[in-house]
Amino acid sequence: MKEFSIFSIWFINLLLLLESSSYAGDSSVVNPCCYYPCQNSGVCVRFGTDQYQCDCTRTGFHGVNCTVPEFWTRLRLMLKPSPSTVHYLLTHFRLLWDLVNNSFLRDTIMRLVLTVRSDLIPSPPTYNSKYGYLNWEAYYNISYLTRLLPPVPEDCPLPMGAKGKPVLPDPKVMCERFLKRKTFRPDPQGTNLMFAFMAQHFTHQFFKTDHAVEGGFTKALGHGVDAGNIYGDNLERQLQLRLLKDGKLKYQMVNGEVYLPTVSEVPVHMVYPEHIPPEKRLATGQEVFGLLPGLTMYATIWLREHNRVCDILKAEHPTWDDEQLFQTTRLIIIGEIINIIIEEYVQHLSGYHLSLKFDPALLFSERFQYSNRIALEFGHLYHWHPLMPDSFLIDGDEIPYSQFLYNTSILLHYGVEKLVDAFSRQPAGQIGGGHNFHAAVLKVAEMVIRESRATRVRPFNEYRKKFNLKPYTSFYEFTDDKEMARDLEELYGDIDALEFYPGVILEKTGPDRIFGESMVEMGAPFSLKGLLGNPICSPHYWKPSTFGGETGFNIIKTSTLKKLVCLNTKWCPYVDFHVPRNEEEAKPRKQSTEL
Ligand code: HEM
Ligand SMILES: *[C@@H]1O[C@H](CO)[C@@H](O)[C@H](O)[C@H]1NC(C)=O
Ligand SMILES: *[C@@H]1O[C@H](CO)[C@@H](O)[C@H](O)[C@H]1NC(C)=O
Ligand SMILES: *[C@@H]1O[C@H](CO)[C@@H](O)[C@H](O)[C@H]1NC(C)=O
Ligand SMILES: *[C@@H]1O[C@H](CO)[C@@H](O)[C@H](O)[C@H]1NC(C)=O
Repeated sequence: MKEFSIFSIWFINLLLLLESSSYAGDSSVVNPCCYYPCQNSGVCVRFGTDQYQCDCTRTGFHGVNCTVPEFWTRLRLMLKPSPSTVHYLLTHFRLLWDLVNNSFLRDTIMRLVLTVRSDLIPSPPTYNSKYGYLNWEAYYNISYLTRLLPPVPEDCPLPMGAKGKPVLPDPKVMCERFLKRKTFRPDPQGTNLMFAFMAQHFTHQFFKTDHAVEGGFTKALGHGVDAGNIYGDNLERQLQLRLLKDGKLKYQMVNGEVYLPTVSEVPVHMVYPEHIPPEKRLATGQEVFGLLPGLTMYATIWLREHNRVCDILKAEHPTWDDEQLFQTTRLIIIGEIINIIIEEYVQHLSGYHLSLKFDPALLFSERFQYSNRIALEFGHLYHWHPLMPDSFLIDGDEIPYSQFLYNTSILLHYGVEKLVDAFSRQPAGQIGGGHNFHAAVLKVAEMVIRESRATRVRPFNEYRKKFNLKPYTSFYEFTDDKEMARDLEELYGDIDALEFYPGVILEKTGPDRIFGESMVEMGAPFSLKGLLGNPICSPHYWKPSTFGGETGFNIIKTSTLKKLVCLNTKWCPYVDFHVPRNEEEAKPRKQSTEL
């Protein structure tokens, strides 16, 4: 006993010594910013060793901690409905929205949605993983992902700041206990695999974390919808992928149809397991898309669409060279992507009865910056791996992961039509609520938790506040699952120490919703800012001449998922982001060509 206490005193001294050596000053003083004292987006600046000041400029609040509302703020807060009220309004009262859809109110409300959401994203961007304060390097070096909130200061007493346990829960334990799927839980909003693969294909043009270097760097320097997933993230790769004739992309013909070329013809780096020979490695803009037939399927569809649009442009502009046809088509493709994402993908995800509209002109009368920087937090919250099913059902075959991943024969064997049909009919998993990660993707959740610690992402409740949501006061308010609440409390000790990713993924979902309130309120601002912040949406770009004339401009404005598929296939399969809603849609389709 005595020996033990001598040992422990020695040990504590050693710890103190180690700890104090990492401090700039006196080890007994805690950095006051570790308490996150500044509310309402006030900025905490440390003065001396134990002093701080909150900069409340333009927050609408004042006082030591930016907690005292100014007169107009008080009024605004009184009148402003809560996010949950707004969400309730938008997802109920069908008849009312039917009226709105067809009146000038649709524009008014859409403009409001866009401005309210994107106002939450600072532009130009602010912090990154290295810099918790504004500076030129953080602004200028676009290899960094930006950050909405600065990192947890390095010298805090606890991993999440000043609250919670001294050691964060083991990521493996987190995954096993809260994330691993027991039985497949389909998304109650009816999301299918066509949506899931679109989510992955679309987001991986701007989420390309550079794992070779530590600390929140990206390889996607376009920081938004640049179609780098189709054309590559650098000029060298783009030139390899291009046919350099008529603006087109290289392709191969299989059974009389256009597919992605292989690495033997287009020697670009693609990630594949060693045993796959070059003549089986499909090549596209994004290096990792060989992983899933769902991704090479979308890549094939976009390749066909690109070449289709090239033909249309060339017919109207026979004098244009390869370069101009390519570049103009790329802008049209970017426009199509944004239109389909807003009017169909986000529409589906939101469950809103308001019919969403892609019309950049809505923002021409508003204060809005046409630029975007991808945020680390956006990349983390978009880890939607619970969408993935237990196995893949195609044309009567059930394909396990072992035969699906990196199997490029699947696309060529079934063809685009049958894959679209299959993926549109198969339900995807519910993203929120926990216990829905298939074993094949559980490791990814573990990796994002580890990465968020390495990059010192602030607590979930700090993000709740940043997005005008009330911080949760207990784990039992955070989730209705009593067992989960109890276990989380035991592991984290304090709701204010709960981490960001576990927060957005485990939060209680609304009734029949794909995920919880935080995923919507935090994801939507990043998403809409990224979509509308694109240069093609700015006043000097958004006009017919940019896209080769009215024809190209109209291709963007009238694009739909169905046209994207069916203008590029021999027959028109069932194609939607929602599983079939009725018997008519559920009927098998074959070789019918109607659009
Ligand atoms: C079977 C299907 C899938 C597999 C095997 C898979 C696997 C992976 C792997 C290995 C990583 C890299 C993790 C790391 O190194 O930190 C990753 C990253 C990611 N995945 Fe998936 N994934 C799948 C489906 C999806 C889907 C459907 C989405 C939907 C949005 C998605 C979203 C992401 C995101 C946002 C990242 C981070 C990308 C980055 O920042 O570079 N994944 N995934
Ligand atoms: C400001 O916040 C700190 C830390 O949370 C707290 O100790 C202090 O009492 C607050 N001061 C005022 C005036 O609200
Ligand atoms: C960005 O910062 C990283 C890390 O300091 C550095 O290696 C890289 O060269 C910088 N990039 C540019 C373009 O300055
Ligand atoms: C209004 O838009 C929503 C979403 O697109 C749709 O569900 C609803 O049927 C529309 N109503 C009318 C009358 O267009
Ligand atoms: C790839 O998919 C094809 C077609 O479904 C199948 O016959 C083959 O066994 C799969 N290959 C591997 C290595 O699993």
